[in-house]
Amino acid sequence: MSSLFEHDSLPPSREALEDGAILLRGFTTSEAPQLVEQVTRIAQQAAFRHLVTPGGYTMSVAMTNCGRVGWVSDRTGYRYDPVDPDTQIPWPAMPPSFLDLAARAAAEAGFAAYDPDACLINRYVAGAKLSLHQDRDEKDAWAPIVSVSLGLPATFLWGGKRRSDPVRRLRLESGDVVVWGGPARFIYHGVAPLKDGEHPLTGAARINLTFRKVF
Ligand code: SIN
Ligand code: FE2
Repeated sequence: MSSLFEHDSLPPSREALEDGAILLRGFTTSEAPQLVEQVTRIAQQAAFRHLVTPGGYTMSVAMTNCGRVGWVSDRTGYRYDPVDPDTQIPWPAMPPSFLDLAARAAAEAGFAAYDPDACLINRYVAGAKLSLHQDRDEKDAWAPIVSVSLGLPATFLWGGKRRSDPVRRLRLESGDVVVWGGPARFIYHGVAPLKDGEHPLTGAARINLTFRKVF
């Protein structure tokens, strides 16, 4: 893979965001092409779709899942579902390489033996965004969220425990991983509207994997 992006040649680094949260820059750059291939394969079985929120808003981010359960939304609410509501078949299994990456990243943040049930896969194209929110549909309120960025860069919005807290803007590049759990588990976060661009791995898109311990 050609290294058109200067970032790809930087050594991995870590930045503590706060107690229970770290940003691992370049943590998975070398594995990124293989991760994107897995996403393509998963999407052949469980297609990306734009979910509708309980309020009737169609999300700009396209989503699919792999793992024991997948996160879905419709007019009745948000939930984790063992089957894809579009096809009524179970979500594709989580590839071993995904589990391995999630566990290694979680361990860097001090969360041992991380065994996520779900991997939500988000696809952003120019203009797509995710408003500030907390991840609170999981029963496990301590295990971390592990978020893996692939393809086009994004501006990650990193707030506090209250919606009104100040929000930091962090640039996330392909291969960067953010982990937040324990005391940071309910931090408000989101993604600013994606800027237009082309990336050698994903074309005009950003792909994000978020691993979750649901049960
Ligand atoms: C999420 O909050 O579920 C996704 C965050 C991201 O796309 O970076
Ligand atoms: Fe989230």
